[in-house]
Amino acid sequence: MTRRRKPEADISKAEDDPVIEADIESFPASDPPAWIPARIGPAVPIRPEELSSARNEEKTMHDTRIDLPSNVRGTVIGLLQARLADAADLASQAKQAHWNVKGPSFIALHELFDQVATTVREHTDMIAERITTLGGTAEGTVRAAAKQSTLKEYPIDIIEGRAHVATLADALASFGAKVRSNIEEAAEAGDQGTADLFTEISRSIDKTLWFVEAHGQAKS
Ligand SMILES: [Fe+2]
Repeated sequence: MTRRRKPEADISKAEDDPVIEADIESFPASDPPAWIPARIGPAVPIRPEELSSARNEEKTMHDTRIDLPSNVRGTVIGLLQARLADAADLASQAKQAHWNVKGPSFIALHELFDQVATTVREHTDMIAERITTLGGTAEGTVRAAAKQSTLKEYPIDIIEGRAHVATLADALASFGAKVRSNIEEAAEAGDQGTADLFTEISRSIDKTLWFVEAHGQAKS
């Protein structure tokens, strides 16, 4: 329906105009329009404990027809959420290296670090979608990752190529070790599908680590 509007100069006569009067009454200033959900209100700070895996287990598990018990799903969602935060952190670390590296191997390292970031970003997608597949809620924002990541913080003042290679290799190795542990933990929890996902990511991280380490191992 096309809404008839009066020229602005006539708005002062709104009380006399049934069309404008109806518009004003349907959006009273003291009461939000009906299409705004009632739960939207003042911003409430999120406490760190609200971002824990327990939240996934106890508060935000969704129903699913998947034949895995909710306690099994809750356990592996906790593993997945921890690695989601790590992977998001790691991808940003690779980008940090990609943007800031300098030196004689600039182009090779610049492109390599971007490839690392792309690979790890794919892992975040795989992990997050496994969480939601299992009925959980993926906590994938940068702020959630910053609060939950178990990786060491990447020093933002690194410039030289070899320093970036060594630091990013350490981060990849740390992440890879945790993913490898998660393979067994997911299998023991009773979810072979998630164990397989961790296996795939583990193999990919091993290969990515090789690409990065190889730059630090050449004799020049
Ligand atoms: Fe780039």
